Amino acid sequence: MAAREAAKSAATLDELRALLDKFDGCALKATASRLVFADGNPQGRLMLIGEAPGREEDIEGVPFVGRSGKLLDQMLGAIGLDRTKVYIANIVPWRPPGNRTPTPVETQICLPFIQRQIELANPDILVCIGGPSAGGLLNLQGILKNRGRWLSYQTGTREIRAMATLHPAYLLRSPIAKRLAWRDFLAIKKALG
Ligand code: URA
Repeated sequence: MAAREAAKSAATLDELRALLDKFDGCALKATASRLVFADGNPQGRLMLIGEAPGREEDIEGVPFVGRSGKLLDQMLGAIGLDRTKVYIANIVPWRPPGNRTPTPVETQICLPFIQRQIELANPDILVCIGGPSAGGLLNLQGILKNRGRWLSYQTGTREIRAMATLHPAYLLRSPIAKRLAWRDFLAIKKALG
């Protein structure tokens, strides 16, 4: 409730970041070093949403700067994109201890903030990276089964084309799956025109 009220009251992304920084309703804030709000271009047509910051992201305060982030940058580069054109955030903005997956309760608590962040950034295309993001924002259960399909995400004011794809951390563990992610990125490139 508190998260919903706070998130709704933010009129800009800067206000949202400031509100999130003051929000004490999520226990992860106490163990994380800092808030990891976003990177890239909030005016970009594509918004990517990952799971949660890891160790490097927690140190730098920037999403996707570790090993997964380097692979994500390569995948974006392969379709002619980089962080000057894309906006990047996470469904949970504080690092879970030991890089564990955020619990469903932690994700639910943070959900109003990322929903407002999407609404304010207002991208043309939303891509959820990995299971927790796809589950929390697109209601998808089972990323391998559901990745690569175009869906619709409702911001409250409009509909945005949305897709879930595999997390680069998974691709680092299972390189064979890179061809599936490549298919998704080609579809994203095509949708951007
Ligand atoms: N994994 C994520 O999901 N997000 C990050 O910011 C880093 C790694």
